[in-house]
Amino acid sequence: MTMLITGGAGFIGSNFIFYIMKKYPDRRIVCVDKLTYAGNLSTLEPILSDPRFCFVQGDICDRDLIDRVFSEEHPDVVVNFAAESHVDRSIEDPEVFLRTNVLGTGVLLDASRKYGVKRFHQISTDEVYGDLPLDSDNRFTEASPLCPSSPYSASKASADLLTLSYFRTYGLPATVSRSSNNYGSYQFPEKLIPLMIANALSDKPLPVYGDGLNVRNWLYVEDHCAAVDLILQKGKPGEVYNVGSSDEICNLELIRRLLRLLGKGEELIIYVADRKGHDRKYSIDSEKLRRELGWTPRTDFSEGLERTVRWYLESGDWWRPLWKGGTV
Ligand SMILES: NC(=O)c1ccc[n+]([C@@H]2O[C@H](COP(=O)([O-])OP(=O)(O)OC[C@H]3O[C@@H](n4cnc5c(N)ncnc54)[C@H](O)[C@@H]3O)[C@@H](O)[C@H]2O)c1
Repeated sequence: MTMLITGGAGFIGSNFIFYIMKKYPDRRIVCVDKLTYAGNLSTLEPILSDPRFCFVQGDICDRDLIDRVFSEEHPDVVVNFAAESHVDRSIEDPEVFLRTNVLGTGVLLDASRKYGVKRFHQISTDEVYGDLPLDSDNRFTEASPLCPSSPYSASKASADLLTLSYFRTYGLPATVSRSSNNYGSYQFPEKLIPLMIANALSDKPLPVYGDGLNVRNWLYVEDHCAAVDLILQKGKPGEVYNVGSSDEICNLELIRRLLRLLGKGEELIIYVADRKGHDRKYSIDSEKLRRELGWTPRTDFSEGLERTVRWYLESGDWWRPLWKGGTV
């Protein structure tokens, strides 16, 4: 089987490639990645000479290139991780988010249709549901209305709808998964957890937006990879699956835990002006994935955080050249 994985030089895509290559020795993987600021070929270094792996530097918006990759490689399955993924950047400059996240997904859907792929899977986010008040006990299910707050989440919601429309209109066997915040190795040090670890290790201030009480649900990246693998095997075309853990924690408490793990003091924390339109709380219900497909996250939050901190402590060669310091 050949899998086309886009965005595989980024955080979750690279973890997914490693996961699949380890679990299925007979799979061939073709990775298309533009290598934006967030893509890092050095992450894939250990597999670049593996005959089962092929890397193509390219833009998912480039129809000719995507058509060529499909016609040469004939992928059975496409998993679209490629995206502009940082909310703050989408607030500063939304256009590239519309281009990659919406138009790029459209190009991949057209090629998947033309070449008859057996499954197209769109990687999405719980941010498409918008946020909840801090005191709410509600959780978003797959039936919750889409109510995105940022240009990033609006572009991801658009891509979800486009994907589902290709199932309904053309019968393309497509699925969508909406995951909560991921953490783990190879995450670009502009995102909350790696940025806080990197700043703390250099005794630089740890900037916290607003009052720091915004709540997020955290999922260890390998548990996300296992969920996507399961959806590819057993998920029903035309369906959406939420992927989340039971680990919900406010940003301030998360940063305090990281500081404790790193043996650093809380005096490094500084409060900065809140993000525009900052979502207060995400809470996701992944009962459907657990009940229908038998998925369960395996990594305890404390263990996952320790593993992540250890990885960043040991992998300065990977993140230091990418780290600019500063804010989230
Ligand atoms: N990180 C999270 O917590 C999280 C949570 C839920 C969903 N997601 C979704 O998961 C996916 C992967 O997220 P991530 O955190 O690994 O992102 P990332 O920013 O680390 O990686 C994105 C990758 O996509 C590539 N890319 C960007 N534009 C491209 C283009 N036009 N053509 C080809 N490649 C392009 C980049 O070079 C990079 O390698 C995204 O779709 C994101 O929306 C992420």
